[in-house]
Amino acid sequence: MLEELDQLESEAQAALAEAHDAVGLEQFRVKYLGSKGAIKRAMARLKEVPRDEKPAYGKRANALRKSIEAAFKTQQSAKASGATATTRPQPDITVPGDPPRLGREHVITQTIDELVDVFGRMGFDVVSGPEVEDEYHNFIALNIPESHPARDPLDNFYLAPEVGEAADEAEPGTAELLRSQTSTVQIRVMQSTPPPLRVIATGRVYRPDEHDATHYSMFHQVEGLYVDRHVSMVDLKTTLFQFAHAMFGPEADIRLHPSYFPFTEPSAELEVRMQIQGKWQWIEVGGCGMVDPEVFRHVGYDPEEWSGFAFGLGIERLAMRKYKINDIRWLFENDVRFLRQF
Ligand code: DAH
Repeated sequence: MLEELDQLESEAQAALAEAHDAVGLEQFRVKYLGSKGAIKRAMARLKEVPRDEKPAYGKRANALRKSIEAAFKTQQSAKASGATATTRPQPDITVPGDPPRLGREHVITQTIDELVDVFGRMGFDVVSGPEVEDEYHNFIALNIPESHPARDPLDNFYLAPEVGEAADEAEPGTAELLRSQTSTVQIRVMQSTPPPLRVIATGRVYRPDEHDATHYSMFHQVEGLYVDRHVSMVDLKTTLFQFAHAMFGPEADIRLHPSYFPFTEPSAELEVRMQIQGKWQWIEVGGCGMVDPEVFRHVGYDPEEWSGFAFGLGIERLAMRKYKINDIRWLFENDVRFLRQF
């Protein structure tokens, strides 16, 4: 009977050596050391042992229990400390933290917000229009004749006509294109709103230009339109002067150069005098003028009663001057190292 105890001991030691993890150790404990475990059962058999062998059996069984319990404890604590050391490195709480990187608004969005703010203070509401436009809003209602070079299909992103709809059969003016100017929004607003009105629209426009430091096939404009009774060129100039001051500082100045746009008469190019790298320079930032009566007729406004001014400025030009950016492509490549600077 003593041999059985010896055998149980070596069997238990071998099983313990195989118990590699917490689950294995627990299974071992239940099987050998539990209240119905092998060691308990071996001790219970003391009853069956012949009287003269009882003391020896009892002693051996006790020694067996102690030795297996001790071995189990040793194995358990080795596993516990080993486990934390290898699978869970303790964090070093003295290392400086990794601050989460906050996103920020794109420099063009910031410029748009500033324009909305500046013109908002002068009473201009914000309106918007679609980027996919028809020829009527992009050209015809703006008094841009079929023969005008701006309508050249090669200078615009025309959309393919719908299947089955040949271009020359379609209603005139319904051909679609990506708008080439935000002046389209002037027409949409006047079609849906009776005068007087004072609005700006900001947004993307598209022209198939070769990309270089100053050209991109998509860019942004801010369009302004002011319609009321007795609006004059003085109102236009005052508004643009206020805008230049707000945007480029109290020393900025403006001047208007005679120019031509089909939708304004008279028309002018707007130049802003601003400081660039310590030098004062005149920079052209857009076009403007008094709304042509022909445009009013297209939208059903009476040109005898109403007059107005309009302007359209390039937002990239403004942003690049203001934030000292020398290549328009930086604005659309979305390199966070660039964007993070503004
Ligand atoms: N739409 C013109 C362009 O894209 C800019 C412009 C000129 C807008 C004169 C106007 C304006 O509203 O009155 O070049």
